[in-house]
Amino acid sequence: MSEELDALIAGLTQPQKTVSPKYFYDETGSGLFDDITTLPEYYLTDTELAIMNTHVDEMTELIGEQASLIEFGAGSGMKTRLLLEHMHAPAAYVPVDISEEHLLESQQSIQADFPNIEVIPVAADFLHPFDLPNPRTMPRRNVVYFPGSTIGNFERDDALELLRVMHTEAGEGGALLIGVDLQKDASVIDAAYNDSAGVTAAFNINMLRHLNREFGSNFELDAFEHRAAYDVDEGRVVVELVSSKRQTVRLGDADIAFAKGESIITEYSHKHTLDGFADMISAAGFRVGRVWTDQKQWFSVQYCVRD
Ligand code: TRP
Repeated sequence: MSEELDALIAGLTQPQKTVSPKYFYDETGSGLFDDITTLPEYYLTDTELAIMNTHVDEMTELIGEQASLIEFGAGSGMKTRLLLEHMHAPAAYVPVDISEEHLLESQQSIQADFPNIEVIPVAADFLHPFDLPNPRTMPRRNVVYFPGSTIGNFERDDALELLRVMHTEAGEGGALLIGVDLQKDASVIDAAYNDSAGVTAAFNINMLRHLNREFGSNFELDAFEHRAAYDVDEGRVVVELVSSKRQTVRLGDADIAFAKGESIITEYSHKHTLDGFADMISAAGFRVGRVWTDQKQWFSVQYCVRD
């Protein structure tokens, strides 16, 4: 708790203030995120699912027989189900998550619908290498699954480090199936992170409510505004909370001063080009084996093999 508080204060006392995106996800935040994925402007979820639906046979052909599917982040959604339904005699489904609660949920919901697949949850912080379980059936290949373009939420060096962990976990002959959002017209991206119903704004502001509850801080929720803008040069959305007045916020022992218009960065969402992502993945020891996109080339699902 106090280590967490120290890290929070450290992030909020830099020239550019930041708070880790992990504080989005209390119960309210997780619910709001689910709502985001169904917004008309939020093209990512629908587009990725459509790509999966269209190409799942080819994907599972590449994955091959008796593979173990290792999902980074506990899944129970439609994309995971689609893969498991189509995989050829899967050896195991291994959800990896830091949250025991999310793991249990994933395990129960997947196991109930796939009684013949061995589900083996692993509680781990997947930013660092971890031990894989041994399924009853010896896997012929490990395939790491990382949907949702979550890779885009990591800054370049961290993304690379995470891809290297995936490379390690995939092991000899292993592969990575990953969802990657692509660069496109700024207006499309801006709309996805500034929905007209205000759900994304509520999601962003909710982080402050979460901090107030968990750390006893006194952020005034009405005194901050949601901002998300696509920076074309950097190829990323910067999500911020902007202070609408000069104010001081108490957090632990710290007084955090905000100028009017000063911001906290709460998230980045990087958008890639196919070439740019191929370079990044090769720096992590993978080679892009196959890329599927939608007709507009807004989103991609990529099958990457270990070199
Ligand atoms: N992985 C999602 C993305 O980058 C997360 C996300 C969606 C998000 N909407 C958001 C994060 C709004 C912060 C704020 O698209």
